[in-house]
Order: sequence, then C-alpha cells, then structure tokens
Amino acid sequence: MTVRVLTGITTTGTPHLGNYAGAIRPAIAASRAPGVESFFFLADYHALIKADDPQRVARSRLEIAATWLACGLDPHKVTFYRQSDIVEIPQLTWLLTCVAAKGLLNRAHAYKAAVDRNREVGEDPDFGVTAGLYMYPVLMAADILAFGAHKVPVGRDQIQHIEMARDIGQRFNHLYGDAWRAATGGQGEPLVLPEVQIDENVATLPGLDGRKMSKSYDNTIALFASPAELKKQVMSIVTDSRAPGEPKDTEGSALFQLYQAFATAQQAQEMRHAFADGIGWGDAKQRLFAVVDETVAPMRERYAQLIARPAHLEDILLDGARKARDVTTPLLDGLQRAVGLGPFIAPAVPAGPVQPASARLPQIKQYREADGRFHFKLVDAEGRLLLQGDGVESPRQAGQLIARLKREGADALHALEQRAVGLAGERIGVLGEDVAGVDVLVDALRAMAEGAG
Ligand code: TRP
Repeated sequence: MTVRVLTGITTTGTPHLGNYAGAIRPAIAASRAPGVESFFFLADYHALIKADDPQRVARSRLEIAATWLACGLDPHKVTFYRQSDIVEIPQLTWLLTCVAAKGLLNRAHAYKAAVDRNREVGEDPDFGVTAGLYMYPVLMAADILAFGAHKVPVGRDQIQHIEMARDIGQRFNHLYGDAWRAATGGQGEPLVLPEVQIDENVATLPGLDGRKMSKSYDNTIALFASPAELKKQVMSIVTDSRAPGEPKDTEGSALFQLYQAFATAQQAQEMRHAFADGIGWGDAKQRLFAVVDETVAPMRERYAQLIARPAHLEDILLDGARKARDVTTPLLDGLQRAVGLGPFIAPAVPAGPVQPASARLPQIKQYREADGRFHFKLVDAEGRLLLQGDGVESPRQAGQLIARLKREGADALHALEQRAVGLAGERIGVLGEDVAGVDVLVDALRAMAEGAG
C-alpha cells in the first residue's frame, strides 16, 4: 500500500535558508522515495488568518510556489496545489466545525497565547482575536482529512494541530460512520486519522543573531537574495571577538552550523580543522558564502525564470488542483450524504457509463430509514419494487442478510402469510405491490447471479 503524505506551507513571508534546509529540501527528498504519494499545498486560506495585506498574500503565494518548483519539486510526481482551489476544503471545514468541541479549540496554543497576551496587559481577553485564529485547527484538520493522508510531516510547533485533526476526525467517524457506510456502501471509516511525522535529523538553522532562523526574529537570510545581498547578509552573522590565529569552537557557532547545512561532509571536516587552526571570521564567512551560493545559484536561476512566467505557474497549480480534486470530490460526496445532505433521490443507475436497457439487471439496494434501521429492497431492471426487506439493527446485519439472499435465495425463498416472504423459515420482508409471487423474486435473483458471473 502506498503511504499518503501531505503537508501545507502557509503563504506568508519570503522563503529563507532555514525554510530550505529545515523543510523544503527534506520534503522534496522524501517525495522521491518509492511507495509514497505526496501532496504539497500552499495554505493560502491559512495565510489570511495572519496577514490582511492582499498584495503581500498574493506575492508570497507566487514566491512560495516558484520556490518549491525551483528547489526541485516535480509536479508530475507529486500533487502540488493551492488550498483555495479545492472547494471541498471549506466544505469539509464546516462539517468538521459542527462536530468539533469548542473546549478542544479553546486549548489551541496559538489562540491561548493571544488570549494570555491580552490578559497580561489588562486588555479584554478577546481583543484582536478573530474567529479565524480560533478556527485555525479545524481548517487544518480539513486540509488533512479531505485527502485521507496517513502521514503529515510538520515542525514540532504543529504537533498539537495534528492531534486535534485526529480528535475531530475520530468524532466525525463516531457520529457518522454508520450513516456513511449505509449511504456509500463503503467499509471501514469515512475519515483516515493522520499521524504526525517529525524528522529528528532535520536541522533547525540558526539565524544572523544565533537564535533560530525565523521571520519573527527578523534574523533570516533570504533563500533567493542576489549574490551581493547574500554576501552582505553572511558577513553580518554575529561571531565572538576572537582574532585571526586564535582557535575557535565549532560547538555553538552559528556560522559553523550554517556551513555544515550546505557543505559536504568532507568540507565540514576541513572547516572543523580550520576553526581549530584559528581561521579568521572574515575568511570563514567567505567560505560560508561560497558553499551557500554554490547550492543556491542554479535554483536561483530557475526561480527567476518561474517567477517571470506567472501564467505557467498558474497552469501547474490548476493541474495540481484537478488531481487533488479527483480525491476530494468523491470523498465529500460521500460525507455530504452521510450527514444527510445528499440528493433527495438516489441515482436510479449507479454512477459510471450508462448501460443499455437489455444489459441492466435487477438490483438490491441498501439504505437507512428515518427510524434509524437498515433496510434493503430488491428492484427489477426498471427499478420496480419486487421485495421490500424488513429493517435490521446494523448495516452489518443488513449486509449479511443480503449476502444470504443472493447465495441461497433462489432455493430457499418461500411465501408466508399476507404477502410476507421468508428465507429458510425466517421472515425477511414483503412482496412489492405488483408482484405475483415469490417465483418472480427467484427469477430476479437468478438473473442477477448470471449477470454478475
Ligand atoms: N499550519 C501549518 C504551519 O504553519 C501549515 C499547514 C496548514 C499545514 N495546513 C496544513 C501543515 C496541513 C500540514 C498539514 O506550518
């Protein structure tokens, strides 16, 4: 079985070296492994929660799309799309909103932090808190559950969100699982509960000031800065005051960690020796610039080409959206029916190519009544009722009964009083109004068995 891996990238800000080494590079490498089916998307609805400047959102979306492609993401191998192109995501968000416990959302870190900050400064706790921030985990759950993702690689700060997606998905399964199985004939559960995947080996890169590289610390080095800008930023990395000739520690050195993230193992080893031998900081930075630029230069060129052709990027993402919706459209169709939002009438002919009348067969249909019991009926090729089954407790019982009817019905069906029908001595339903007798049912079952064989 292939493992379905899915992850989203919030489209705020401009990608930096930390994003590259910590997320983009390992994700692209993982997407090339055999046996995985990867879904990558631009979480642009999530971006609206953090940013209300339309131009920045639009710009960042374009930059991030071009970045992932320039770094080697292959849109033929993976499914790469924009969240906002998948209408089933907001649909599922609402279905999940209606089962998510408010108390669960109250505990979300990001929301709680905003409330705590307000309390600290004596503000109203809800000051500046949008319902979007509050609902963030539900939207993220919909992103994941709409695709039946098994694994979600994310940073540690996102673990709680994956746990919430599992909680909410489990609650949906519990409430609507039976209805979903009855409505769709599906087996198992409607929603797959995802697992978080944390890569322990992935480096978090330090930024210019030695703290974790992050746009919230304003200490980032842009991934696709011009060579001159990149050099300037590398030269501004904070170091200690040791002079050239004095031995230097690689341990705890931001400069060394950055170097290691871009150098080969052998280069890193040489740099260790250079540190011990007292390389000057200026020289060390020069070497760092050289390895980073060597890695980035070909990608920078591809990036410039991509960003200059937004229509081409648009095509790639719309293609991705089509592939993505091949998964989400049927899933949402089943979920809508499970919650009671299906069409008023079941389609007369099962979906798929329309068959000529002569090729149509009698059918057994299974459904759930308002009384909560599970029913079936046998209809002829034109849809006329032949046998109305009695309701049973569970979809499982209904399934077993139908299987027996198909297997033994032709030999073991018999008439009971008042147009009731028995199967090997046990009442299972009543004849349809215009049906002369049990023989009609037997013929229909035989026709079905032949048609299936
Ligand atoms: N919240 C994630 C982040 O900030 C981005 C994201 C949105 C995501 N939807 C997702 C990640 C679904 C994984 C799966 O990093």
